[in-house]
Formats: sequence, C-alpha cells, structure tokens
Amino acid sequence: MLLASPEDFERARSLRSEIERLDHHYYVLDAPLVPDAEYDRLFRELQALEARFPELQQQNSPTQRVGGRVLEAFSPVRHAVPMLSIRTETDTESTGAMAFDARVRRELKLTESDPPVEYAAELKFDGLAINLRYENGVLICAATRGDGETGEDVTENVRTVGQIPLRLRMPVAPAVLEVRGEIYMKRADFNRFNARALAAGEKNLVNPRNGAAGSIRQLDSKIAASRPLSFFAYGLGEVRGWSLPPTHAEVLDALTTIGLPVCAERAVCRGATALADFHARVAARRHELPFDIDGVVYKVNSLALQEKLGFVTREPRWAVAHKYPAEEALTQLLGIDVQVGRTGAITPVARLAPVFVGGVTVTNATLHNQDEIDRKDVRIGDTVIVRRAGDVIPEVVGPVLDRRNGDLPRFNLLEQFRVCPVCGSHVVRGEDEAVARCTGGLYCPAQRKQALLHFASRRAMDIEGLGDKLVDQLVDENIVRTPADLYKLGVLALANLERMGEKSAINLLAAIDHSRETSLARFIFSLGIRNVGEATAKDLARYFGSLDCLLDADEAALTAVPDVGPIVARCIVEFCHEAHNLQVIDDLRAAGVRWPEGAPQASVTGRLVGKVVVLTGTLPTLSRDDAKALIEAEGGKVSGSVSKKTDYVVAGTEAGSKLEKALSLGVVVLDEAQLQQLLREGTLERGADATTTDNGVTQ
Ligand code: IVH
Repeated sequence: MLLASPEDFERARSLRSEIERLDHHYYVLDAPLVPDAEYDRLFRELQALEARFPELQQQNSPTQRVGGRVLEAFSPVRHAVPMLSIRTETDTESTGAMAFDARVRRELKLTESDPPVEYAAELKFDGLAINLRYENGVLICAATRGDGETGEDVTENVRTVGQIPLRLRMPVAPAVLEVRGEIYMKRADFNRFNARALAAGEKNLVNPRNGAAGSIRQLDSKIAASRPLSFFAYGLGEVRGWSLPPTHAEVLDALTTIGLPVCAERAVCRGATALADFHARVAARRHELPFDIDGVVYKVNSLALQEKLGFVTREPRWAVAHKYPAEEALTQLLGIDVQVGRTGAITPVARLAPVFVGGVTVTNATLHNQDEIDRKDVRIGDTVIVRRAGDVIPEVVGPVLDRRNGDLPRFNLLEQFRVCPVCGSHVVRGEDEAVARCTGGLYCPAQRKQALLHFASRRAMDIEGLGDKLVDQLVDENIVRTPADLYKLGVLALANLERMGEKSAINLLAAIDHSRETSLARFIFSLGIRNVGEATAKDLARYFGSLDCLLDADEAALTAVPDVGPIVARCIVEFCHEAHNLQVIDDLRAAGVRWPEGAPQASVTGRLVGKVVVLTGTLPTLSRDDAKALIEAEGGKVSGSVSKKTDYVVAGTEAGSKLEKALSLGVVVLDEAQLQQLLREGTLERGADATTTDNGVTQ
C-alpha cells in the first residue's frame, strides 16, 4: 500500500491552514479573499490527498464540513460547566431595564451615592444555543444545551456551519476553551432556502428559528450542510489555560480576535437609563437587522462582580433578557373568509381565535391568495403560527403539522367562492394571475365601497371625514352609487345616518365641497384605474396636460409617456372605453370638480409617437438635453438603455456599449443628421439600413 510522504503531510497541512484562512475571511469577516474557483481548486486538492492517503485524514479538516455519516441517534454530552438559562424580563417597557438594574444594585448592596453599574448589552438571538469545545485550539465537540447539564452531541452538524472555526486562530491555544453562542439563520438565507424548496417541490422551513434548530438536530449531517446557518458567540463555558480579561465585553473582543463571529450590535452601558436607551435603539432598528431577535440581553460587565452575584436555581443574577413584544404566536384557524378589493381582487382572510401578537390582539390575518394557501398548506382547523412584525398587517406563517388532527381537507378558494359573497357575480381567475376576481365591477357594493374610499383618500381627492363606516352606510342604503353622487349629498340625508350629527354632516359637506378644487394628477389618481398609482397619475397629468388629451390617447400614445409600459397603457384604454366610467367623469365635471389644465408637455400626435429612442455618445451639434426635448416634442420616448423594445439608437462620437448592444440586437442606428430628418419628416429617406454613420459604423 502506498504511504503518504512527508511532503504529502506538509502539503495537506498547508492546504488545511490556507482553507481555514479563506473560510474565516469568507464566512466570518464577510470579505472573500479569492474567487470561488480558486477556493474550490484548493479544496478539491485537499480532498483528493485525503482520499488517497487515509492517514492524512483529520476530523477537523475543512473537508469534514460537508456532512458525512448518518447517525442513529445523538450521544449525550455532559457539560463541564452547566449551560444556564437566563431570566426573562417580560415587562417590555423601559421599566424592565430599571427593575433589573435595581435588583443588581440591591444584591451588590450599593447605595444611591455609588456610581452606576456597568453592563454589556447585546442582542438576544433567536436560534439554538450551542457549546463549542476547543481543546488545544481544535474543535472537538459541539453540543446542544439539552437540560443544561447534559446536551446532545451535534458535532458533525456543527462542523458544516462555515462561520464556526474548526481551529482557533491563535499561535498557542489554551488546553480547553468552551465558546457558547447561538446558531441562527439569517432572514434572507431563510427566504432564499424556501424559494428554492418551493421550486423543487420540497418542504419549506416554518421560520428562521425552526430552520436553525431543526437543521442542527438532523441525524444526517448532509442535510445540515445544505442549510444556510450562521453563528454568533456570546459567552464562555469551561476555560483552562487562558487568562480571562476583566470584563465580558473584552471576552467578546478576544473571541473576535481568535476567529469567532461576534455580533457588532452591542454596547457597554452605565446604569439603567443607558440600558433602556439600548433597548429602545435596537427596537427601532429591529426589522432592519438581517436576522430575527426577540429581545436584548444585559450582563453585568465585570466578571468579578458576576462571580459575586452568582446564581439562583438555574439563572445567573447578573444577566437578564429584556424582551420585545412577541411577533409570532400560535392560534387556531377557525375559518377562511374573503375580502373584495377595489379592483375585485378576492383576498382570502384567515379567521382566527383571538391571539395577542406584536402588541395587539389579532382575530384575522391575510392569506394573500390561493397559491400562498397551497404553498403553506394551511387548512381550516389547523393550529397556525401568526406573525405581526412592526406595523405590517398580520399574516399566517404556516400550520403546525404536529398538531393537525386527522385528515383536514385542503382549501380551494374558487370552489368555496364560486360567486362573490358580496354581489353574487362570478369569480374568475385569469390564467397568468395569482388573484381571483369578482367580475361585478362597480355593480359590486364591495368594489364600489373601496372605489369611494380610494376616491376620497388623502392623496386622491382628500375628503376628510369620509371613512369606511360612513361609506358602508352610504352604499348599503343606496344613497351613494358613484363618486359623483357624493357631490349631491345634503345635510338632511347625512344627518339621519348612524353616528352622524348635524355638525359632522356640515363638516363633511364642507370637505366634499372643498375637494371640488383639485389638480389633474389627483383627479386621475382618484379614478382608481388599475395599475395607475400616484406617480403614474402625475406622469400622465404632466405629459397630457388635459383630461381630454388623456382620454383620447391610444395605447401607442400612452406608452410614449415616461414610465408607462404596455400593461398600464392597456388598463387606461380599457378604463376609458367603459361608458359608465366616462359617465362618472362627466358627472363629476358637471358637479363642479375642476382643475387647472395646461398644454401637453409633449405632442401626442407627433412623428415619433410610440417610438423608443436611446441616445449615446456625443452628437455633433445637439446637446443630450436638446435631442431629448426634440424627440419628446414629437411624442417619442427617450430611454437610458437599449433593449429589444428600442426603435432607434442615435449614436455620436465615443459611443460605447449601447451602440454595441444595438448592433447585436439589430436595432436601427442613426446619426444626428438622420435623427433630424426623422424629426422633420417622420421617415428616413432611402431607408436606414445601408448608410454609414459618422462613427464609421455600417448598418
Ligand atoms: S447568555 C448565563 N447571551 O437565550 C447566560 N444568551 O436562556 C447564558 N441567547 O437559549 C446565556 N442570545 O441561547 C446569552 N446574547 C445572548 C443570547 C443568549 C440568545 C439565548 C441562549 C439561550 C437563551 C438563554
């Protein structure tokens, strides 16, 4: 049998240390040193060496990260130093920080005249606690917390986490160094993983925490290796042969130096107010962090004081977790109702057993659409996870499958709601559409109500006081059918409505009256044309100058408007072809709704209507702005990049990649003289395909 030579040993050692260095830069410092291909080359060389000479194999070789044996079960590991839990301060207000500081001061017998206690403040990561045991600098065991005394040996899986060094970066390593921290999953990694699982028809992860904990507790380490996991160190276990710095903050600094990832979002705080400030500061940024947290952790910074404070049962007196309101909770899915939106979109809404989450009691949550229901496989009767993060509307994250009783039927929106529950019109789902829609249009009271609310909203006609309760009554009692009817309302009709006194009726009428004076952009937006948001409405108003010009425009003219594409153009044309929409517009004008009209900014009957032109390089006489203005004045649209949709590229000297792209796509290329001709005559004499331009390019 062939044996490894001393050179082979040396090569394997040097490859391992180089790969470790590259791993550290890639995973921990987030700053790769070499291209992936170079890394792969080194990695494969080491793999090949180890395969050829088994005596070169080492448990801590970077090649062992990829997952290997399938275990029957995890072996128990007794912790050398118990893994304690941490007291939780459930008072999520700043008083929570005050209470902790007061307790610490009392235990330390400090009086008011003593200086403030110094704390290390950190984030409370939402993953799985892990103990990493390094002996002489080499990772030899990784264990879960278990009951605090005994955990499970998950070394094989933990080795697959790229951020965890298999060897400490120190010339002389301590005999024993146990590092404690949290394995977690970044939200982006979680989303990416789920998107891929969805595409591959595989099961997705419920949330990042379950993703992290579930991956580490897989018996097949190949599965863990395939999951994108991260790690943050936050403390120590057993230490032998390493002199500790005096404070916890310095311990964390030292861990960073020896190659462990430590979260940078931490601070040393003096006294309770500083803790409360940290809590509030992190709360404000909570949703910008790349991972989930459920609170912050305060630790007395001095290790000597920590020792003095000691423990009660399984919790240290020197630390506390100060929570934020929970953003996820479990509850029962009682049923699925639907909401009909302004454009008829039927949105399934989960009816839930009331549950306190994200600081409010939630009784319903959106399920988005049928595809989402299928993807999450939520069924009526399930126990579900409900999430309300920040001010975002609550959503159903997914079912807790362990708690599903028996065979619940799948939910099919179109079967349950063949007709609109509000108006009885058919519900249809277009082939390439995610949403189902009620076909009732403005016949449907639900759509009418939403249309009215949109019309009156602040950025549209801005009618203060016309809220949803009032709109419900006005539509249900058939007092208002279209926005134009609002302008016919009188005090008597209003004052008879529930919760509407004479005074509020008068105020509302004043607000309605006031809204008559508006701008073209607001008016266009208020019509609620599908896909025409506030920005598009402004573009349209600026471009056409008057409503009649807009109403007359065909699809080609509309796509000439900057930022208006074919879908939006079609929606506008469809809207303008509906007789009842034109009637409402007429009625509104007759009711005195008015706005200043201007000249169209650009011709809509010009020679370049519907044409997309790209300018590149320096033209002999025209500046870029002049050329753009001339093209737009003829109804053309100037775009910044060349695509198949580009009609002409006008190239001057030093034209670069845009010209190349035009040529490769077969787009017609013009010089300035040809552009001028096009603007004058709307056509290119002799055709554009056999001329030589100023650039010397033959087309
Ligand atoms: S220190 C003696 N620091 O919270 C104190 N724990 O019960 C030991 N956790 O599941 C814990 N972030 O994994 C500490 N910055 C942090 C933490 C943290 C999250 C977890 C820990 C355990 C629980 C504590």
